[in-house]
Amino acid sequence: MNRSDVDRGGLGGHPRGLTTLFFTELWERFSYYGMRALLILFMVAGAERGGLGFDVKRAASIYGLYTSAVYFMAIPGGWIADRLLGQRRAVLCGGILIALGHFSLAVDTLPTFFAGLVLIVGGTGLLKPNISAMVGQLYAPDDPRRDAGFSLFYMGINLGATVSPLVCGYLGQRIGWRWGFGAAGVGMTLGLVQYVLGAGRLGSAGLRARPAPASGVAAVPLRFTAAEWRRVAAIAVLFLFSVVFWAAFEQAGSSFNLFADHLTRTSILGRPFPSSWLQSVGPFWVISLAPVFAWLWIRLGRREPSSPAKFALGLLFVGLGPLLLAIASAVAGPHGERVSPVWLVLVYLFQTIGELCLSPVGLSTVTKLSPPRIVGLMMGVWFLSLALGNYVAGWVAGYFEILPLPQLFGALFLATALSALILALLIRPIRRLMGGVH
Ligand code: PHE
Repeated sequence: MNRSDVDRGGLGGHPRGLTTLFFTELWERFSYYGMRALLILFMVAGAERGGLGFDVKRAASIYGLYTSAVYFMAIPGGWIADRLLGQRRAVLCGGILIALGHFSLAVDTLPTFFAGLVLIVGGTGLLKPNISAMVGQLYAPDDPRRDAGFSLFYMGINLGATVSPLVCGYLGQRIGWRWGFGAAGVGMTLGLVQYVLGAGRLGSAGLRARPAPASGVAAVPLRFTAAEWRRVAAIAVLFLFSVVFWAAFEQAGSSFNLFADHLTRTSILGRPFPSSWLQSVGPFWVISLAPVFAWLWIRLGRREPSSPAKFALGLLFVGLGPLLLAIASAVAGPHGERVSPVWLVLVYLFQTIGELCLSPVGLSTVTKLSPPRIVGLMMGVWFLSLALGNYVAGWVAGYFEILPLPQLFGALFLATALSALILALLIRPIRRLMGGVH
């Protein structure tokens, strides 16, 4: 008997191992997003405020390179786990590298700053794809709890991402940058302790590395059938739109974060709060709205939009955020009077609606469309779209001080709206390529 069939001892009747992975990923994302809430602000803050004093163009390009590298490294990270370490050890090693990376940032010198970024990039590449793969392994292939398990896991991600800007942002912006980065490192360390203590619950998940194939090339025969070619082509088309989506979405930690810091009134009822706290709003919306979306798709039944249609909706909504900010920055005027934080709260609401239309759909469509023997490779390719999107996002955010903001955010809105329109026109041909997969 498969043990995952009988194991209901964890969160919400799920396998006990899910509890371990839920908290490990919660703490990992706590550290990732807590540090990220501070990163660009720290780079652009002048020396008198203890920052690095980079101009926005340079800071945004380092930021974009860093966040894109994090997702790019998922490809070698997945490979190393599959062929060498096994997922369980890859997650452990990744977590250790990440914690060391945050502590290295906390040392507060330029060389340790860059060393810290490199450590986090490598560590996240080892941890992030492999912990998700382990979640999948907790369930037998036909276990009906699998999707709900992934939804719970996504909640863990966003719980960590909601709380950490509050903690790290407060420490970093109010006490000292290094305390914020240090707190991110402490969070990852707690996650690691929890992971090691909870390893017994994981059963066999992530234990064995697959033996290396006799010949790496022969292992991935690219001799697709005609139907497979068409599905791979559908993935390729969606890939391009995914890049546009993430380029707009990932303004959150860069240009939106700068907007919060420079142009938003950061006080509620007369009490000031650190600008990085607004980084909590997006993940907070995810936690609030994910159940609504799960209900909505089921409720719509046969009228549920197809995957490419959801993609087009995702693009449309992610563009409404920049549209609002274009208006807000016109309201703020050329002298940069500060605007209400409600603008950003609404920006993140639209952005999250976009995320919930596109992000989970992207991952599951890849698993459904990909020829089964290369699904791992295609997942890596999918992460590549995030990497490219993040890179472009950094490049766009670099214009924060160069272009007037209504122009910058307006252009971003136009680019996403145009992409949404093109994709809407392509829905039928893409569905034909998908050949029966929705
Ligand atoms: N908020 C998500 C996370 O950190 C963003 C994401 C989606 C990242 C899909 C990777 C893949 O997990």
